[in-house]
Amino acid sequence: MSVSKLFGALCAVTIMAAPALAQDYPARTMTMVIPFSAGGPTDTVARLLAERMSADLGQQIIVENVTGAGGTLGADRVAKAEADGYTMLLHHMGMATSATLYRTLPYDPLNDFEYVGEVVDVPMMITARKDFEPADMAGFIDYVKANAGNLTLANAGIGAVSQLCGMLLMHSLDAQLTTVPYKGTGPAMTDLLGGQVDILCDQTTNTTQQVQAGTIKAYAVTTPERLDLFPDLPTAIESGLPDMELSVWHGVYTPKGTPAEINERLAKALQVALADEGVVKQLAELGSAPVPAEKVTPAALKTKLETEIARWKPIIEAAGVYAD
Ligand code: MLT
Repeated sequence: MSVSKLFGALCAVTIMAAPALAQDYPARTMTMVIPFSAGGPTDTVARLLAERMSADLGQQIIVENVTGAGGTLGADRVAKAEADGYTMLLHHMGMATSATLYRTLPYDPLNDFEYVGEVVDVPMMITARKDFEPADMAGFIDYVKANAGNLTLANAGIGAVSQLCGMLLMHSLDAQLTTVPYKGTGPAMTDLLGGQVDILCDQTTNTTQQVQAGTIKAYAVTTPERLDLFPDLPTAIESGLPDMELSVWHGVYTPKGTPAEINERLAKALQVALADEGVVKQLAELGSAPVPAEKVTPAALKTKLETEIARWKPIIEAAGVYAD
């Protein structure tokens, strides 16, 4: 066979093989890696979505919690996984902030992943153990400023949004608290409930039920507007802390090299899950909501990550907080 005929035959095989891959996919159980502990806010969102995505894809999605180092160990696991469409990562905005917070990362957030789509936006809440003295946000600000040296602030490590929120809080109050790192705000919440730590800035997907049950105290939310779910709870901004605006965006990623048609198929499953009435209702009950459908695409998530890395870089550099 001549070289040109051989090349032609190889191309034909490749062209025939590509649709076959998409048609058969997925053919076995899949894994969604969550870079924080079970029972926490990222885990809650992931389990809600994995169930509905499984129904659309016709294959089970196992949620695996790969914890530690503020979410970077889980992200690294996926960066180094087979690019075959059977491993994905659900991570929040820590994917963007870690790029600056860590002087060295074992992966490149922008170039070691493919993109599936954005997921949900989740507000954050400043909370404390239920017997914390201040009655409201004004009292909280005065009390924390006066007693900073004796207070503890829980977080989920450098790269976690609880750490970022705590950092903004300490910066806004010009107060240095003792920080206590966990592998997720699931276990941090357990210690807040037990009174082992004083304060936790966490996502409403983890705080709402506890605040409603009266097992922790809420002082403010980090959104520009008050939440429908908690109309009496002030925003941190209206309480005089203008830098405390944080809404936690999330995205789903696959390892670099995962074929585009697979990422598109996963994006479709994600769109179906996020449009599900039950999912929307459960998210609303936790103070969250899916992003608009046009953001649940590979291109939209890529743009979001690029924009957010650029947005947080100068803020983190100005704060001078790094992990090595
Ligand atoms: C978690 O799921 O534990 C949180 O998202 C951790 C954090 O970023 O604060």
